[in-house]
Amino acid sequence: MSSLNMKIITVIGSGLIGRSWAMVFASGGFSVRIYDNQQGQAAKAIKEIKKQMEELEEAGMLRGELTSTQQLSLLSSYDDLAQALEGAFFVQECVFEQLEVKQSVFQDIECLVGKDVILSSSTSCLVPSSVFSKVQNRSRCLVSHPVNPPYYVKLVELVPHPETTTAVVDTTHALMTKVGQAPIRLKKEIDGFALNRVQSAIIAESWRLVQDGIISVKDVDLVMSEGLGMRYAFIGPMETMHLNAPEGLGDYMKRYGEGVTRVLNSFGPVPDFFSKGAKSIINEMCELIPSDPQHLSARRERRDQLLMGLAKLKKDH
Ligand SMILES: NC(=O)c1ccc[n+]([C@@H]2O[C@H](COP(=O)([O-])OP(=O)(O)OC[C@H]3O[C@@H](n4cnc5c(N)ncnc54)[C@H](O)[C@@H]3O)[C@@H](O)[C@H]2O)c1
Ligand SMILES: *[C@@H]1O[C@H](CO)[C@@H](O)[C@H](O)[C@H]1NC(C)=O
Repeated sequence: MSSLNMKIITVIGSGLIGRSWAMVFASGGFSVRIYDNQQGQAAKAIKEIKKQMEELEEAGMLRGELTSTQQLSLLSSYDDLAQALEGAFFVQECVFEQLEVKQSVFQDIECLVGKDVILSSSTSCLVPSSVFSKVQNRSRCLVSHPVNPPYYVKLVELVPHPETTTAVVDTTHALMTKVGQAPIRLKKEIDGFALNRVQSAIIAESWRLVQDGIISVKDVDLVMSEGLGMRYAFIGPMETMHLNAPEGLGDYMKRYGEGVTRVLNSFGPVPDFFSKGAKSIINEMCELIPSDPQHLSARRERRDQLLMGLAKLKKDH
């Protein structure tokens, strides 16, 4: 990929996700120019990144071949968009999840970059045909949707605009691979992309099981954390089936396909997440883990520690 030899990437927006992307790209040896429209925000972001990189290095979890000092030297901050975009071959947008904000940011960016620069959005919920509707040349635009926290959860969903060229997706795929992420390609845009569609299916059935009085909130979470999730950190649902019948997936469907169909046909309608019943499910969760900042941040810390351990385990195998 010739354009990967061009070493500058611009990150637009320096919040949680912008800072994570900057760290991921720097770990792959790219120069990263960080821009935020809040004066001084991008500079603050670098201070925050410095702290995080030093902690990661201490824990032996810093990504890439370079030291934290070397990676930090690749970062620079800008309050001026034109300066931030100078020399970049790839732009990763990470501003607020608001359609109008993203549309106008991309309109501004397009006027300031050369015609071969790839424009990539981190949006979680907006489809490319909306995000890029105000861009003239949409053939170089795509969504690269990360998962939080991208430093440990490496999936990136690449979602093309209907006009995006294959070469643009290929270059982005190569870039993401080079910096150690795990890119996947969607062949077409769809609401929720792939990850949130699968996640929504899991949410719906978990919610229904609790709502219908079949199981408690605590136990439905254990179905995942002590059951399905144990495998899913390493193999997906397709390979799980393939391995679970003596002769693979075809055999699995011969044996269990009818059962799967029967169960799927018994799934109810989309649950009402705003009903009285929903309130009692929410209360049940809050009895397990109160929703005050203290309890939640303790559990988030535990989650991130465990994710770090899991990332390490996966790296070593
Ligand atoms: N947080 C997550 O879990 C997550 C996961 C995947 C994708 N995303 C997506 O990433 C994007 C950023 O999310 P976040 O959580 O980092 O948000 P955030 O609120 O932490 O950060 C947004 C940053 O963008 C800056 N900004 C706002 N408008 C701007 C503009 N016009 N120009 C330049 N900078 C601007 C803000 O000052 C802020 O620093 C969103 O589209 C979100 O959907 C978030
Ligand atoms: C549109 O973008 C593609 C992909 O980056 C580029 O090859 C092409 O030259 C651009 N077209 C125009 C008219 O700028």
